[in-house]
Amino acid sequence: ESVDLGPYQHYMQKEIFEQPGAVGDTLASIASFGPELFGASPEDWSAFDQILILACGTSYYSACVAKYWLEDIAGIPTQVEIASEYRYRITVPNPKALIVVVSQSGETADTLAALRHAKSLGHRFTLAICNVASSAMVRETDWHFLTKAGAEIGVASTKAFTTQLLALYLVAVSIAKRAGRLTADKEKEILRQLRHLPKALNAVLALEPQIIAWSDAFAKCENALFLGRGLHYPIALEGALKLKEISYIHAEAYPAGELKHGPLALVTDKMPVVTVAPNDVLLEKLKSNMQEVKARGGKLYVFADQDTEIVNSDGINVIRLPEHYGSLSPILHVVPLQLLAYHTACARGTDVDKPRNLAKSVTVE
Ligand code: G6P
Repeated sequence: ESVDLGPYQHYMQKEIFEQPGAVGDTLASIASFGPELFGASPEDWSAFDQILILACGTSYYSACVAKYWLEDIAGIPTQVEIASEYRYRITVPNPKALIVVVSQSGETADTLAALRHAKSLGHRFTLAICNVASSAMVRETDWHFLTKAGAEIGVASTKAFTTQLLALYLVAVSIAKRAGRLTADKEKEILRQLRHLPKALNAVLALEPQIIAWSDAFAKCENALFLGRGLHYPIALEGALKLKEISYIHAEAYPAGELKHGPLALVTDKMPVVTVAPNDVLLEKLKSNMQEVKARGGKLYVFADQDTEIVNSDGINVIRLPEHYGSLSPILHVVPLQLLAYHTACARGTDVDKPRNLAKSVTVE
């Protein structure tokens, strides 16, 4: 761990701020979409009709976002499973399903065992999304895509996550192209949007002072709820995981529509409710979920986009992200949640880069 911290207090903070560069590096050599990005041939690429993604931890949440993209953009049926469950479960294998393993390290024992299990069941197509070129998962899959996050030292994953999201988005648009769902104009438009991502991430990172201002209130809590809908439900899950891992605050995430089926009973004026509220088709639904929280005295902390009407008022605190980013919005909306967890942990004085009981890479079961 000889990497220089520069102006940062911890590796985690440094790695959060490296995300524009990591995303830019991951995109650097990409000029179009297709099987060649993954080392596959067009014939290979047309052979699978379903996707099964296997992963653990933060990588699992990137896979959960990918399910929304793969079904919406590429129109391919997609399942996501926690690797440690899949490897011991009796499943109904579809030999024409593409198995995707997502892993920062490429060495996580459960994900590797799940990959081997899938192969033993007759799965013929395998793809790894990894951050380490020499890893076992890269060696043991037919195809791979390497994220260029660089070394990630903080145990809580940040830049690996955003680059995994980007990689999985590339899988979705590459399958959409195969299916004839991507016109040449649309491909150009997506490439333009992707190239603008580093700048958009920098604009989100500039919100840090506003997030620091919230972190004192969070540091005093023992519980927090995170809400999101659609593509941003897994982002809420990832935000809750970050807060748990490094600040030791109990946090749970729910798809906001499920509030009324249980978690609403927990809402009091002691419960901060973090809401991921991008300006998408589900925003109006989310607003009514927020009203349910407000009516019970819950304190809302909302990450909205620039062009939404949610305003600061009694019980509602709002931070606005600079722009709405359409289907790529999860890549931006996770960043303030990383910063919130980070600054809350700092305010509580925990060992941010080495949280108790956790390891960077879990290579034993
Ligand atoms: C550990 C790390 C997490 C990581 C998970 C999966 O639990 O602390 O940050 O998300 O392993 O790791 P992988 O290397 O497979 O992405």
